[in-house]
Amino acid sequence: MKVLVIGSGGREHALIYKLAQSKRVSKIYCAPGNGGTASIAENVNISPKDIDLLLNFAITNKIDLTVVGPEDPLVDGIADVFEENGLRVFGPKKEGAILEGSKIVAKEFMEKYQIPTAKYRVYKTKEEAIDGLDEFSYPLVIKADGLCLGKGVIICQSKEEATKAIEDMIVSKVFGSAGETIIIEEFLTGIEMSLLCFVTEGKIVPMESARDYKKIFDGDKGPNTGGVGCFSPNPVLTEDLKKEIEREVLRKIRRGLDEESIDYRGVLFIGFMLTEDGPKVLEFNVRFGDPETEVVLPRLENDLVDIFQKTIDGTLRDDDLIWSDKKCVTVVATSKGYPIEYQKGFKISGIENLDKNIILFHNGTKIVDGELVTNGGRVLSVTCLGDTIEEARKCAYKNIEKINFEGICYRKDIADI
Ligand code: AMP
Ligand code: GLY
Repeated sequence: MKVLVIGSGGREHALIYKLAQSKRVSKIYCAPGNGGTASIAENVNISPKDIDLLLNFAITNKIDLTVVGPEDPLVDGIADVFEENGLRVFGPKKEGAILEGSKIVAKEFMEKYQIPTAKYRVYKTKEEAIDGLDEFSYPLVIKADGLCLGKGVIICQSKEEATKAIEDMIVSKVFGSAGETIIIEEFLTGIEMSLLCFVTEGKIVPMESARDYKKIFDGDKGPNTGGVGCFSPNPVLTEDLKKEIEREVLRKIRRGLDEESIDYRGVLFIGFMLTEDGPKVLEFNVRFGDPETEVVLPRLENDLVDIFQKTIDGTLRDDDLIWSDKKCVTVVATSKGYPIEYQKGFKISGIENLDKNIILFHNGTKIVDGELVTNGGRVLSVTCLGDTIEEARKCAYKNIEKINFEGICYRKDIADI
C-alpha cells in the first residue's frame, strides 16, 4: 500500500521509520518532509496547510492511507475533506481536533465531564482580564485560546508580567486572532507526563508514557520550546496511577466524546501534571507529540499500519498494543538561539560516525546540493534504546557528541533521573 505522511519534523520521521517496517507498505511519501525522511520516503513539496493540494496529490497518486502529523491541518478539517473524498486518513475530524484548536473548548469539555484540570477563567477584554488577576495567586498562567505554534502559554510571576502578557495577547495581538480570547489559569506544580492514546469507537487505548523536557536549558530553565529531549517510559506512572488515570480521566473523556457525539479516530495526547492532589490535565493535543513519538514508537512492537487501520475501523482492542521492555531516550540537538531567534543552513557533519544502534530522527534538516544542512530550531533527535534509561541515556549522549554543526546546542540533563 501507498502511504502519505503529512509534516516535516522528527515526529513524522519517526512515523515513517515505523511505517517503513510494515510489510504492507510499498511506498511512503512525505509532504513536505525533511533531510531525514528523504532517505526512506519520497518528499513531496506541499505544505501541510495546503489541504486542496494534498487531496489532489492523494487522489492522483492513489494513496491508500494518509497519516497527519501536525495539528494545523487537523484543526482545519483535513480528515473531513479526505473522508468526504473516499480517502482513508488517520487523524480526528474537525469536531475532535477543536480539543487542541481551542483551549477554551478543551477546558469547557474538561469542566463539563469533571476531568481534573487547573482552575481557570476566560476573558475577551483587557480590562476584565486585569480585574480577573485578583482571583489568582502568583505564579499564574495565561494562555491564548487558539493555535500559536506552542508559544501561547505564558507563566507569569507578578502582576506586571501578567498585565504585559494580557496586553500583548489582547491589545497588541502578538498571536493574531488566536490570542483575542485568553484563559487565566491556576499554576500547577508537580511532575509532567505525556500520555499518547489511540482513540476510536468506544475506546481510548493508552500508549506507553513519556517525559518531555520543554525548557531550553538544563535544570528546566529558560523559555519553553517544542520539547528538547524525552524518554519513555516515564517511571512516575505506577500501576496505581494508571488505574486512577483510567478512572478519573480516560473514562470521562470517553463519556464526553460519546455524549457530544464526537466521532474521534486518531491520537489524543494528554499532557498531565501529576500534582499532590492527583493527576490533572494541562492540555489536549489531537496528534502524536514531538519528541514523544521519537521515544514511544521505537518501543512499539506492532505493525503500525495495522494499529492505524484498526483505529480508523473502530476495531482496536485494549490489549492490541505490544511494547518492548527496552527504554528509550532521545536528546535533541538544537540551533543556537532556539526557541527565540536562530539561523539555518549550517552544514551538519559526523552522523556517519554514529554507533549502529542509534536511531537518528531529523527534526529540521534539508539536503542542499547533496549536503545535509540545518533547517530549523530543533535539528536532530539522537535516539537510543537500552535495557535501562541510564544505558539509553549514555548511548544517546556518547553519540550526540559526534555530531557537529555551527552553534549546536543540547541539554546535558535529559533522562538524568
Ligand atoms: P500547554 O501547551 O497547555 O501544555 O502548556 C505548555 C507548557 O506550559 C506545559 O507543558 C507546562 O509546562 C506549562 N503549563 C501549562 N499550563 C500550566 C499550568 N496550569 N500550571 C503549570 N504549568 C503549566
Ligand atoms: N512535545 C509536546 C508536543 O508535541 O506538543
